[in-house]
Amino acid sequence: MSLAAQASSSGTGTRHTPAGAAVTAPNTDELELPWVEKYRPLVLDEVMGNEETVARLKVIARDGNMPNLIMSGAPGIGKTTSIMCLANALLGSAVKEAVLELNASDDRGIDVVRNRIKMFAQKKVTLPPGRHKIVILDEADSMTAGAQQALRRTMELYSSTTRFALACNTSNKVIEPIQSRCAILRFARLSDTQVLSRVRTVAQRESVPMTPAGLEAVVFCADGDLRLAINHLQAAASAASGMVDAEQVFKVCDVPHPAQVSAIVQNCAMGHVDRALDAITALTKAGYASLDVVTTLFRVVKNAPTQAPAAATGGANAAAALVLPEYLKLEFAKLIGLAHMRILEGVSSNVQLAGLVARMARVVVPPEKFVV
Ligand SMILES: Nc1ncnc2c1ncn2[C@@H]1O[C@H](COP(=O)(O)OP(=O)(O)OP(=O)(O)O)[C@@H](O)[C@H]1O
Ligand SMILES: [Mg+2]
Repeated sequence: MSLAAQASSSGTGTRHTPAGAAVTAPNTDELELPWVEKYRPLVLDEVMGNEETVARLKVIARDGNMPNLIMSGAPGIGKTTSIMCLANALLGSAVKEAVLELNASDDRGIDVVRNRIKMFAQKKVTLPPGRHKIVILDEADSMTAGAQQALRRTMELYSSTTRFALACNTSNKVIEPIQSRCAILRFARLSDTQVLSRVRTVAQRESVPMTPAGLEAVVFCADGDLRLAINHLQAAASAASGMVDAEQVFKVCDVPHPAQVSAIVQNCAMGHVDRALDAITALTKAGYASLDVVTTLFRVVKNAPTQAPAAATGGANAAAALVLPEYLKLEFAKLIGLAHMRILEGVSSNVQLAGLVARMARVVVPPEKFVV
């Protein structure tokens, strides 16, 4: 079933995701909270996606004896949430006393490891048998190497009473000796279906009137980052006077409309370089950053079907009209990737985007035309 079809088939008023996970009921005291916090899962059952990793965490939560853990993965996919859920499940009401959470906003130099973490590890807390105190080091990749070195022996010395859970975006920024002391759990980006399911549930709980195309636009812009998706949903809902539709979402996400971008790709696929150049110039004149344009180009190409769909999806998918044969998708993805790299290196001029479009259009021009 396409995302559009799933979006439109949603019932109203349900409090459960398709996976059966109940969403935290909004508490009247928390009405001012941003939705990402209001709907932050409190138990592991509510965490979307990464089923294998979450299943491992559930086993740890059931059996106790948590090993030192490193959770690594992209932003906004549930690492901090999962650690918090695990700590809640393991320690219950003792969580306040028995958990020390330090994130990148805290000073985490070598002194903190020497003093605060050691003091916490030595502190006496009465816990149920088989449970340990937990030190949560969020955004551990931003800890200095010195502080990480100081952690090595601490981790071992206090292992009978204290366990460590580290969360980071890239595990290779955590020094190897720490990696070797921990079980590494990798979190993958969430699939579009998982993001859609959660966003739809939040929209229903908040009574946000949305068109299926609007929902799909939120999912498209988030690219697997659930935090971003929920934030976009809230921004679009507060900006819209009535129905939240795709236009509204693309406006608050500040990315080029995929319909415009897919028209550029379509023109390239037909060798109409002039039209494609005009359209890409219009985008840069409208003020979109080159990086946003190439990332949207890539998503449009990635999502384009290789064959025309048997039944139309009702126009909910903005890029639905675009059909690219496999070889064109491969070529376009390669060229967009190279341009993306150059833009990240700092060459983000209009010429860069125009060059990309020209190279994409060139793919479909027969080679003999270039012979002079
Ligand atoms: N897998 C998920 N299931 C349910 N909600 C999620 C999930 N991932 C993210 N969220 C939502 O996004 C918010 C942020 O998630 P979280 O803090 O766990 O991200 P993170 O992976 O730690 O990101 P970062 O690397 O930026 O710290 C949560 O409050 C929650 O609302
Ligand atoms: Mg986090």
